Amino acid sequence: MKKITVSAPGKLMLLGEHAVVYGKPCLVTAVNQRMTATVELTDDKIFQLDAPDVQITNYQKPITHLGKGEIPKGAKFVEMTVKNFLNRHPERLAKDLSRMRPSNKLRDSSASPQNDNLGIKIVTKSEFSSEFGFGSSSASTVCVIKALSQLTGANLDNKQIFNLAYKTVLDIQGKGSGFDVAAAIYGGTLYFVSPGKVIQPLKINTLPLIVGYSGIKFDTVRIIDEVAQKAKKYPWVIGNVYDQIGQLVEQAKKAILKEDWESLGELMNFNEGYLATLGVEGKKLSRMIYAARDGGAYGAKLSGAGVGDCMIALHSVQGKQAIKKAITEAGGQVINIKTNAEGVRIE
Ligand code: MEV
Repeated sequence: MKKITVSAPGKLMLLGEHAVVYGKPCLVTAVNQRMTATVELTDDKIFQLDAPDVQITNYQKPITHLGKGEIPKGAKFVEMTVKNFLNRHPERLAKDLSRMRPSNKLRDSSASPQNDNLGIKIVTKSEFSSEFGFGSSSASTVCVIKALSQLTGANLDNKQIFNLAYKTVLDIQGKGSGFDVAAAIYGGTLYFVSPGKVIQPLKINTLPLIVGYSGIKFDTVRIIDEVAQKAKKYPWVIGNVYDQIGQLVEQAKKAILKEDWESLGELMNFNEGYLATLGVEGKKLSRMIYAARDGGAYGAKLSGAGVGDCMIALHSVQGKQAIKKAITEAGGQVINIKTNAEGVRIE
């Protein structure tokens, strides 16, 4: 049977979170900690998933039941990804299966996954904890689409993978800008406008970033909803905040391209101020952020939805150790990553 392994990077939001959900640009970098999916086409009509990092072992269901019934949290993204791929590309799989079993008559090219013997076995493995907010769900969605695209000869290009992965994220979460999906596919450091209206890779060599994990997990969709409630009540405040964050992103893009870390740090600090106005700074995260600044960082802010997950700090060549120490003393866990990592790839 045909089998393939694909990997995709995690991501860190640099500037522009929340505002990006409402049409403003953001900056995101891919990190060198990766999600891997090994995908195998079988002919037993079973969908099988092992995702030990999210406590899913030997999860099975008939392929005809994809998306139906109670789906465990850790299996949702992969299962819905497979369902969406099969709905979008049934003819590819019908052809593929007929090649795998030469005795079978070539199937009707409009065949749906409900009427063939296709089975799919998937094993995912992550180099990073799903608690970090590095985008493990989006990365696994991207891996599975890339793998199925290769196995079936659908050969989707990056934009087609983006569209299908983003649709899957929206089917499950209902909201989100898709910046994490873009980072998993394209890698590098991106200037992004939702929903993939602009995906511009920034040509840079390095990004001197330190990452601190708060140990706190909060539901991203809930945070987005809370911010949306504020925006409804105080549109004149929050609308201005989004506009200002958009401006900061434009300036930060220029600073990144010039490797002007001092200015980028200042812009990050401004961005953190606006995130505090949105109410997502989080007490522990902000202690870590202020500690990093006191420790000598050019700038520091939260990264992602806020309240929990990670913060980022920009360091000078000599200042790295002092900032790491400050973050640790504030109760954070420093996570060693490299930025600007490669996008989705076949292993
Ligand atoms: C979450 O990591 C970042 C948000 O901007 C949501 C999104 O862009 O999908 C809050």
